[in-house]
Amino acid sequence: SQVTLEKITNLCKRRGLIFQSSELYGGFNGFWDYGPYGTAMRRAVEATWWDYMVEQRENVVGQDSTIICHPQVWKASGHVDQFADIMVDNKDSKKRYRIDNLLEQQSEEILAKVAELMGSTSDIGKLEAAFETKLQEGENIDSVLADAKVVDPSTDKVGDWTPPRQFNLMMQTYVGPVFSEENKAYLRAETCQPIFVNFQTICNSTRQKLPFGIAQTGKAFRNEINPRNFTFRSREFNQMEMEFFCHSDDSMDWYNFWRDQRLAFYSDVLKFKPESMRTHDHDKLAHYAKAAMDIEFEFPFGWGELEGIHHRGTWDLSQHAEFSGQKQEYFDQGRNEKYIPTVVETSVGLDRLMLALLCEAYDEDEAETAKDGKEVEGRVVMRFPAIIAPVQVAILPLSKKLGEGARELHAKLKPFFRSEYDEAQSIGKRYRRQDEIGTPFCLTFDFDSLEDNCVTVRERDTMSQERVAIDQLANYLMDKIRG
Ligand code: GAP
Repeated sequence: SQVTLEKITNLCKRRGLIFQSSELYGGFNGFWDYGPYGTAMRRAVEATWWDYMVEQRENVVGQDSTIICHPQVWKASGHVDQFADIMVDNKDSKKRYRIDNLLEQQSEEILAKVAELMGSTSDIGKLEAAFETKLQEGENIDSVLADAKVVDPSTDKVGDWTPPRQFNLMMQTYVGPVFSEENKAYLRAETCQPIFVNFQTICNSTRQKLPFGIAQTGKAFRNEINPRNFTFRSREFNQMEMEFFCHSDDSMDWYNFWRDQRLAFYSDVLKFKPESMRTHDHDKLAHYAKAAMDIEFEFPFGWGELEGIHHRGTWDLSQHAEFSGQKQEYFDQGRNEKYIPTVVETSVGLDRLMLALLCEAYDEDEAETAKDGKEVEGRVVMRFPAIIAPVQVAILPLSKKLGEGARELHAKLKPFFRSEYDEAQSIGKRYRRQDEIGTPFCLTFDFDSLEDNCVTVRERDTMSQERVAIDQLANYLMDKIRG
């Protein structure tokens, strides 16, 4: 059975994982809320990333900055002037598109025509770059979309297009009592800029020496022109970023090192199948970068970027040095050399990773309807890795009469695992409910449990059942979850 975005969004709504923000008022495009299971899982994914990137390493430390920073931060980073997407409107349908999304949905002939007019190939990335260059150089490309007879996907008719123009993605607000230009501030568009801003303070306040990294997770905001594909492109989302500061001579070695570490995170820790992932080197590099690549995941709507590994050169620190008037150099005692560190970045969107995990885990198969396993019925089963499953262990008494012992067991396990107690309806129905949210272990507490102090552990994926002594359970489950 094929996973579709519709099945994922329906399941997420039905089981309270992720749903539209402000649903009561009809939703708010590009904003998503997480319910109890979704929140538990997202926190677990973030904690797993933090453990892998920070806690388990001696050369990476963490920080947590404000969402609103001094506006100069975003001038220095180039966001205020350059962080823009190209958009066009159809004057008839009043629909607004990001140029790459619009081009993606054209036939090959139309795309070839646009490419010809733009002096580019019909690769979407290259075409978008061509639009950007021509807009910046002030070339007249006002009629390209009309000349190529570009179709509006919402009407399937050739559109009457406005000239392509740049649209800044920074979300704005005002700080202070007066809504004036001087009081204008921005919600951060990426979590990494405050890392660069704090680099000197962190160097001076910790005993870290280069090479070392600073990590941060948290909210980022972008006024995306057309948010779409569930949480894939949202206007408010979470990023998990790590900026690694090193000498430029070693920077490509570190770039390769972090690429391999990040790929290992997906394959070994989050257990993504090799065929679900691929890497893609950027066609066009920023002038300061030596390399950049995306780690992509195959979503139901096609391959999409999950994470970026970027060589950022000395760009960010140099910019902040220029704008703040304060040197951003580092004295390397080992090398007896003063220099501006080069940065290698790893950057992944947490909500996009949640979507990838949901798509990767989704499965439909058949399962037992009764304990004897004689009858089967279809089930939806989310095959989440146990470390990030919203519920890791479910405690299910075979009868309500067994509630006392089963609740006692729940209290015992709760400090160590995300666990849930459920005594409502038949055992088959309760298994189905747990399968659907991807609970890897269901513990059945039955009448024998009162005698032998054991429970039956049912594994989600194999549906195998094993009798395990209650006093061994925590170790038994811990080993399986770590495994
Ligand atoms: N600091 C570098 C940076 O922000 P990016 O490629 O713009 O690079 C990094 O973003 C990651 O953040 C992406 O790979 C993606 O996972 C996530 N991301 C970016 N825009 C997003 C959006 N609108 N909605 C959800 N996730 C997004």
